[in-house]
Amino acid sequence: MKVVCIQNAPKFGAKEKNFQEVRSLLNKVKADLIVLPELFATGYTFTSKAEAKELAETNHGKTAEFLKELSIKTGATIIGGFVEIEDEKIYNSALIVSENKVIDTYRKIHLFNKEKLWFEPGDKPLKVYDVKGMKIGVMICFDWMFPEVCRTLTLLGMQVLAHPSNLVMPYCQNAMVTRCLENRIFAITSNRIGREKRGQDDFNFTGMSQITNFNGEILSSAPDKKTDVLSIEIDPNKAKDKMINDFNNLLDDRRLDFYKTSYNLE
Ligand code: ACM
Repeated sequence: MKVVCIQNAPKFGAKEKNFQEVRSLLNKVKADLIVLPELFATGYTFTSKAEAKELAETNHGKTAEFLKELSIKTGATIIGGFVEIEDEKIYNSALIVSENKVIDTYRKIHLFNKEKLWFEPGDKPLKVYDVKGMKIGVMICFDWMFPEVCRTLTLLGMQVLAHPSNLVMPYCQNAMVTRCLENRIFAITSNRIGREKRGQDDFNFTGMSQITNFNGEILSSAPDKKTDVLSIEIDPNKAKDKMINDFNNLLDDRRLDFYKTSYNLE
């Protein structure tokens, strides 16, 4: 299966320009799965809820139409971030599109920093999509910080994680090595580059998008400051094998009776 990771530098608010850039990056690309960054067509650094709402769309808006167009041209399942609106609530979401159809949206469940001022936290359960023989899980950017997300998706059968991102801290790329190793999954972290200075915020996005395998090996990695397209063949079935050696299975060996979900830090 050919998986592709796009790293771009969206211009804030310029959807058509950002669509056009992605369109040209994917010119002539054929693939099974393509992952675009978080909020790839709008930019990230909102200064008010009203501004985020102005760029929001339903799951059949312009961004959905654009990804449907790409799904036909490339033959791929496409996952990319957008601002979703439903019933007057806005979410930091990703569209999951295949064969000219929107399959679903994922709404980011762990909001980062001021995202908490603009967006509602995700309200839909974590899900795995069985598309053309590949079991795909989706999380967005800061969800990486909560290992429960990858673990839950793994328990649901995920083989390949699509991870649209707008990373500003320097930790995630390394952490994804561990997420992949501890779950024996593939991950495609599609990050953005560039600087966004808006309102009180001044973000430098870290690039270094990464495709990581079930052994925690980085199969492909982008530079930190350049637009890029990573493309690689993987065998998602390799993620079905959860044996670490002849004696250890990383799901069967869990000791659920020892683990806690609540805490007391006193
Ligand atoms: C992030 O979640 N965009 C840092």
